[in-house]
Formats: sequence, C-alpha cells, structure tokens
Amino acid sequence: SAMTIRFDNRVAIVTGAGNGLGRAHALLLASRGAKVVVNDPGGARDGRGGDSAVADKVVAEIKAAGGQAVANYDSVAEQKAAANIVKTAVDAFGTVDIVVNNAGILRDKSFPNMSMDDFLLILQVHLMGSVYVTHAAWPILREKAYGRIVLTSSSSGLYGNFGQTNYSAAKLSLVGFMNTLRLEGQKYNILVNSLAPVAGTRMTEDLMPAELIARMKPELVSPMVAYLCSEACTRSGEIWAAGVGYFSRVEFREGPGVRVAGQPTIEDVAANIDKIADLTTSTAYRTANEESQAVLAG
Ligand code: NAI
Repeated sequence: SAMTIRFDNRVAIVTGAGNGLGRAHALLLASRGAKVVVNDPGGARDGRGGDSAVADKVVAEIKAAGGQAVANYDSVAEQKAAANIVKTAVDAFGTVDIVVNNAGILRDKSFPNMSMDDFLLILQVHLMGSVYVTHAAWPILREKAYGRIVLTSSSSGLYGNFGQTNYSAAKLSLVGFMNTLRLEGQKYNILVNSLAPVAGTRMTEDLMPAELIARMKPELVSPMVAYLCSEACTRSGEIWAAGVGYFSRVEFREGPGVRVAGQPTIEDVAANIDKIADLTTSTAYRTANEESQAVLAG
C-alpha cells in the first residue's frame, strides 16, 4: 500500500549484525529494500575471537530472501577499521544513508573486581565504536543532507544494573553523544536517536528462563529501529525503549527546584532537599542553553 515504509535506494550500515538484534535489524531493513552492510567480526560475547562466517551467514539470508547485502568483518572499536565499514558501504553501494550502531560486548564484574582494562574495553567498543563509525559516515550524510543514526543504549545505563558499571557508563555516554549530535545534524536532516532494547540474545540468555528468552524475539524490537531509520521519522535526539512489542519513550526531566537568595548554606540544602528533589512538575529541556536560561531566570 501507499503507507508501506520502504528503504529503496537507501544504504544502511548495521554494526554487529551477525547475531541477535543487529541481525534482526539488518533483515528487516533489507526486506524493505535497503542495501545493507552486515558488519560483524564474529567473536564471543566478551569480544574474544572472531569468525567471518557470522556476517556471511546473515548476508546469505538477506540474499536468499531477495535482498541486497554485503559483509564487513571490521571491528567498530578501532578507528581505521571502523572507517573501513563506511568504505565498504561506499564501495559496494555508492553511499550511506543509515547507520545503526548496534555492536556490543559484555565484561561484567562487580566494581571492585573489575579490571580497568575491561572497563576501558567496554567504553571503546560501545562508545568509541559508535563514535568512530558515525564520524566516518558523517561527512557523507552532511553532504547529501540526509541521515538516520541509531545508537544502542540500554536500561543498564539509564537505570543501573549490578555488575555493569563499565557497560552502564558506556551506554549512557551514548545518550550524551546523541544530545549534541542532534543539534549538529539538525540543519542537515540528520536525525539521531537512541534505543534501549530488551531481547533474548546470547547477551541476555543466562539472565532469564529459556521460555521467556524465547518470547523476547529480537525481531519484536526491530520495527522501532527501522522507523527511526526511515524518511517517515522526523524525531531526533530521543530515547526509545523497545522489547516484546512494547514501545515507549524515555527522557530526562528537571524539577522546578528551590531558589535560595544570597550565599546558600549547606543547611539550606539539607532543609530543602525533599523540595529540591521534587519532580511533580518538571521540564524536559531540549538544549543545555535552555536549561541555563531557566537556572539564570530566577
Ligand atoms: P549479541 O551478542 O547477540 O550481538 C552483538 C553483536 O555485536 C555480535 O554479533 C558481535 O559479534 C558484535 N560485535 C561485538 N563486538 C564488535 C565489534 N568490536 N565490532 C563489530 N561488531 C561487534 O547481543 P545483542 O543482545 O543482540 O546486542 C546488540 C546491542 O544491543 C548491543 O549494543 C547490546 O549492548 C544492546 N542491548 C541489548 C539488550 C538485550 O536485551 N539483548 C539490552 C540492552 C542493550
């Protein structure tokens, strides 16, 4: 029908598309006409090892269904390799329109037991991996004045999850990255959104009972990602939760707060802490400047 959302003549990069959510996003975009770069170096859940067959298999699935795809085996976590993912799109399909930053690994440990190498590695893959791929694609998107970028955040970053200080820090850092990228992309029609997915994949399979994992199909999340990557989407700089057919928006809100004249004392803060914390009426500021204006307005 005329309402069908399609991606004909659009080129999409999906990182970490060999498994789980990335694979489902790639299959959906390709099924609606997108030319897809299926990026995945393979490797275990903790990032160790590698296997080119992982990306090849998804490319074969897309082709078998009549779609167009090409494999790329580079790691998002290294700048040159990440740039080569974008080069793969340009070499195979001439351009890039859509970047779904989905690649990710886990190195869970309670904070005192976590090595700082594992902390940095998680930041490198999730934050810098998304930054590198997006940075390489950005000049192309800007030049054509069209772009759709999805960053994969997580409820672990938004709300916290025991044993995941590294992952939580990395996942919420992507929201900060998005907030400013939204402003810089605005006049070029480059829209940037964040996803907080819930799906049964090898990343979550040991956290929940098997029958629940089986219900949490990654393809139940992908329509949100595909929407955010479509021409139909006009929203930018927002956080979207999606899982098992549930879709919702998440945002930061700031309360009206309390104003103390002159030099506030520690005791002023103590006496007012409940009122300072109150969010009964609150505002979601859209830029740092907007918030500063409100702070200074009093
Ligand atoms: P998954 O482990 O099934 O898929 C992740 C894919 O990323 C794997 O195929 C892996 O080979 C690839 N990958 C890992 N390091 C890479 C690198 N350096 N360069 C390129 N590709 C790399 O896991 P899942 O669940 O599909 O995760 C996808 C994304 O969703 C991740 O960013 C994850 O943190 C995020 N997420 C998943 C949730 C869930 O419920 N499954 C919850 C919240 C976030």
